[in-house]
Amino acid sequence: MALIMIIIGSDHGGFKLKGELKNFLEEKGKTVIDCGVFNEESVDYPDIAQLVCNRLFEKKASFAVLICGTGIGISIAANKIKGIRAALICNEFSAKMASEHNNANVVCFGGRTTNFDSAAKMLDVFMTSKFQGGRHQARVDKIMSIGECNNEKTR
Ligand code: RB5
Repeated sequence: MALIMIIIGSDHGGFKLKGELKNFLEEKGKTVIDCGVFNEESVDYPDIAQLVCNRLFEKKASFAVLICGTGIGISIAANKIKGIRAALICNEFSAKMASEHNNANVVCFGGRTTNFDSAAKMLDVFMTSKFQGGRHQARVDKIMSIGECNNEKTR
């Protein structure tokens, strides 16, 4: 079986769920690199998103898991980083699609919106689903070619 390395990180809002998901992954035999946080002191989630995504590329890991209170801020931050396709997962169907259609390399959860049992099921579905390529590859290629930053204020 191929060695699966997963990078994980959270802000204070995702600290508890991060620990639970880390144990879950290790019990499944995965190698997990934990980028913190290591306590519930308040931190800024964009810093964690950058740290984890940089580590994902450095280690050539399979994918990364990012958790903040809602999963929203940390997924927005991660998606600003070149090469990242971060998916905020809220049910098992979206977990499957994030893999099969979007070839996500980061999955995000909300530590204050999702309990461990649900998150573990979603992560399992994500890990056991495969990118389907074909027309989805062409769409993913289009996503990856979007590089212009529009700083216009929209709201
Ligand atoms: C931190 O209080 C909270 O804003 C953060 O965890 C996250 O939910 C942001 O989207």
